Amino acid sequence: MIGGGYVGLVSATCFAEFGLHVNVVETNPVRLNVLKQGEIPIYEPGLDILAKNNIKANRLQFFDKIEEAIPECEAIFIAVGTPPRNGDGHADMTYVHQAALQIATHLKQYAVIVTKSTVPVGTSRRIAQIIRQKNPDLEFDVASNPEFLREGDAIKDCMNPDRVIIGIEKDKADHGKRAQGVMTRMYQPLFQRETPILFTNLESAELAKYASNCFLAMKLSYVNELADLCEQVGGNIEDITKAMGLDPRIGKYFLQPGPGFGGSCFPKDTLALIRIAQEAGTPTRMIETAAQANDARKANMSGRIIQLCGGNINNKTIAILGLTFKPNTDDMRESASLPIIHRLVDEGAIIKAFDPIGNEKAQPLLPNNVQYYNSIEEAATDADALVILTEWNEFRSLSPINLKKWMKKTLIIDLRNIYDPRVMTNEGIEYYSIGRPQ
Ligand code: NAD
Ligand code: UGA
Repeated sequence: MIGGGYVGLVSATCFAEFGLHVNVVETNPVRLNVLKQGEIPIYEPGLDILAKNNIKANRLQFFDKIEEAIPECEAIFIAVGTPPRNGDGHADMTYVHQAALQIATHLKQYAVIVTKSTVPVGTSRRIAQIIRQKNPDLEFDVASNPEFLREGDAIKDCMNPDRVIIGIEKDKADHGKRAQGVMTRMYQPLFQRETPILFTNLESAELAKYASNCFLAMKLSYVNELADLCEQVGGNIEDITKAMGLDPRIGKYFLQPGPGFGGSCFPKDTLALIRIAQEAGTPTRMIETAAQANDARKANMSGRIIQLCGGNINNKTIAILGLTFKPNTDDMRESASLPIIHRLVDEGAIIKAFDPIGNEKAQPLLPNNVQYYNSIEEAATDADALVILTEWNEFRSLSPINLKKWMKKTLIIDLRNIYDPRVMTNEGIEYYSIGRPQ
């Protein structure tokens, strides 16, 4: 497994748990050091114990040198980052191409080189080309095996996925049969569990990943716009999404309005598919609109908070609960909290923040004068307003009695709709949420 980040580490651990021997190569010395000491450098529920068990059983090992990790491998998975390329929104393929070159330099026997990173269509063939140029005599196949796990649910998603998609070179002389054999062995435990496993050509597998993420992103932008409409015309987004979700063609999941989607994937993957489609001469206008609507939403959310605070937040104390892009992760990438808090600080607010896991990772990304606390009570004490940005479970049973005791003014702005508006208002709390009557 090349790359020991969120995807590499989780996938490696799950393959090891299913009994395979997995060598993880990681070039970031800080991450590698932590891993080599038997610790886990990211927060993902359930990962720590599972990884430690497999390290103990000698099925999971960590390396900095690829030449030590790959000699005996039947499959080499590339799980490195593909962030947006500066300036144009295409996925930056630097790390993937570097990994391909390193594999080409050091691989001595047949293996399947599998792309797990989310990559533009054509990448697997480009990897094959890089390897062929560097090492013309090497026997190998390429495959595309995009990852669909969600952070916060990653172990469950990986051990029990909805589907496994494997792209192979169906146009090769053997129709990709050798690669299919190796990949079938890798996923044998899931075959036995009757997980749907779909073998496609390389291009379809690469596109299926972007297609899925972008569909979900569109669903979210749609529901967020509907929530805004509800606020103007008097509907309740909760009832509307319930009504929609009862239709199995729509489905009840992924209909929760919020401050705008974040994370390391939807923002970058929407941009990447937009660019791929534009260059292919078949623009995906619905995705363009969904991405623009989300960017505007994240940028404007602070305006909504300022307005609810009376239009002027200079010297007002605002408590923020939740900083990460979603609960159960320490990941801050593209979190809605970033643009929101930057603007609130620019407008003169005093920010008291609490995230159960994310305080440390948030600090370098937020203004220096943000104050961090380790409990709801500390953050809420003497605040003029309290804003919920991430729906961590421990925020869900906040007691109005305590809020009245702690806060200077009991104004709650709930951007994740985790409280019942009637309960809050009956208790005398000034309460705002998204797309629901106050
Ligand atoms: P990440 O940044 O957490 O991890 C990538 C790791 O690869 C880093 O630790 C980096 O140091 C390492 N690396 C880079 N080049 C290397 C090399 N040549 N050799 C060894 N290590 C190298 O990224 P991530 O969140 O795990 O995402 C990886 C890919 O998976 C991306 O393409 C992403 O879109 C995709 N993906 C991510 C998720 C998710 O939830 N994070 C889910 C599905 C797919
Ligand atoms: C997402 C996809 O769900 C995964 O299938 C995919 O593998 C992954 O991207 C990826 O390619 O990296 P992830 O970003 O971890 O997973 O988290 P999600 O649960 O999808 O949430 C993404 C964003 O949407 C978060 O900011 C979340 O708060 C927001 N969201 C999600 C909502 O606002 N409402 C919802 O109903 C669901």
